[in-house]
Amino acid sequence: MSTMQAMRRTSPARWLLKDSQLPSISGALDLVANNKHFADVRHVSTLPTRGGLISPKGTGGRSSVSGVVATVFGATGFLGRYVVQLLAKTGSQVMVPFRGLEDSHRHLKLMGDLGQIVPMKYDIRDEESIRAAIAKSNVVINLIGKENETRNFSFEDINVDIPDRLSQLAHEHGGIMRFIQVSCLGASHSSPSKSYRTKAIGEELTVKNFPGATILRPAVMFGTEDRFLNRWAIQAKKLPALPIIAGGKTKLQPALVLDVAAAVVAAVRDEGTSVGKTYELGGPDVLTVNELVHIMFDTIREHPHVIDVPLSVAKLMAAPQEYLLKKVPFPLSPVFPFYSDYVHSLEVDSIVSPEALGFTDLGIKPRKLQGIAIDYLLAYRAGGPFMGSTVGERTAGPLRMICAAQLGNELLQNKQASFHAMFSVSFFENVQKAKARGFPL
Ligand SMILES: NC(=O)c1ccc[n+]([C@@H]2O[C@H](COP(=O)([O-])OP(=O)(O)OC[C@H]3O[C@@H](n4cnc5c(N)ncnc54)[C@H](OP(=O)(O)O)[C@@H]3O)[C@@H](O)[C@H]2O)c1
Repeated sequence: MSTMQAMRRTSPARWLLKDSQLPSISGALDLVANNKHFADVRHVSTLPTRGGLISPKGTGGRSSVSGVVATVFGATGFLGRYVVQLLAKTGSQVMVPFRGLEDSHRHLKLMGDLGQIVPMKYDIRDEESIRAAIAKSNVVINLIGKENETRNFSFEDINVDIPDRLSQLAHEHGGIMRFIQVSCLGASHSSPSKSYRTKAIGEELTVKNFPGATILRPAVMFGTEDRFLNRWAIQAKKLPALPIIAGGKTKLQPALVLDVAAAVVAAVRDEGTSVGKTYELGGPDVLTVNELVHIMFDTIREHPHVIDVPLSVAKLMAAPQEYLLKKVPFPLSPVFPFYSDYVHSLEVDSIVSPEALGFTDLGIKPRKLQGIAIDYLLAYRAGGPFMGSTVGERTAGPLRMICAAQLGNELLQNKQASFHAMFSVSFFENVQKAKARGFPL
């Protein structure tokens, strides 16, 4: 706390500082040193300088002191914002190392009391900047991840080197009491996905360097800013048909991002029960990609126009983009609807193993996907969230128009065509029926 801040916070001394008499910084120092009103004011930061235990104070709200000073690497990402929010609202101080522009962390600043969210510019390859970011903390959380490789950062860099470096530095620090490494469900040496294989190595190195580390393996996460249902919904609106890889048979167990953030905070704040353990965080329902896509289509009230892309074709489609991403020195918007590693990850089911520790062991009841949890998809409804019929009014491309015409025709000619039929017919079924009825395709 600076001298000026200390002076302003000390109400008995306020009368000394009439506006016209505001002293300069050096004058203020003399004033503070010689005035009895400031004799018992602490002129130094109230934070510990080397991590360790801090006694909690207050009622547990945003203005209290939870005792947690956490450095959250990857705070600017999807999960990061929820972790920072949950930490800050209980009076924890959060260091936010960031690498991008000042704007990248601006939304986080408001989540905590004044001075509780501390952005710090850093470079993940510069150990000194990492040391500075964790210097005053007693908790380190690593949420750094990437869904594709780039010219600057491979999956080895992100999923192996970064957790390795952070856990080593956290161990060296001496005052870090909790290290939370967020990996992903399905992380395994034998996974077809390179990202999952490297995540498994990263987990091992983390535990080796920091034996008390807690490993959290979330399933694919959904939430307002997700890159899962939102991405499908955008594609459903823009493409004539949504590509589904390998028949959409892969089983997933999506988890709500808020529940995963709550699990991170629970692991930080428990009595040590999560120390050295690995948790698999999956939602309450196991659903196939196909089922999830249909839930998404139902929510946005569009006909489920899907196109099945065989695994081998999907790999071929993603390959040129993969090559370009590793070559160009700037971020590239995805041209194809999926990254190469995403295709590989769909080769195997991604569900919680029966013997694994999970949400309930951290005292959290995970929420279902359907219902309020995916209300954010309403924004994709034709005509706005609260408008539109039960089927989308907007048509994207001539094929969809033909399908709509075909369905209308079916409704006129065959009274049995129900709303259920309208939701369940796939794009190709529609096209085939339209062909059979003589529509010019
Ligand atoms: N999203 C999911 O569905 C899902 C599912 C399972 C597991 N996970 C794992 O959960 C963690 C968080 O996921 P998320 O969805 O929140 O990820 P995200 O939105 O992609 O955010 C990733 C974070 O990592 C940072 N980052 C990436 N590369 C970096 C680099 N080279 N140097 C420094 N920082 C870097 C990003 O910083 P910038 O903002 O500067 O880019 C961002 O803050 C990741 O480990 C991810 O693998 C995610």
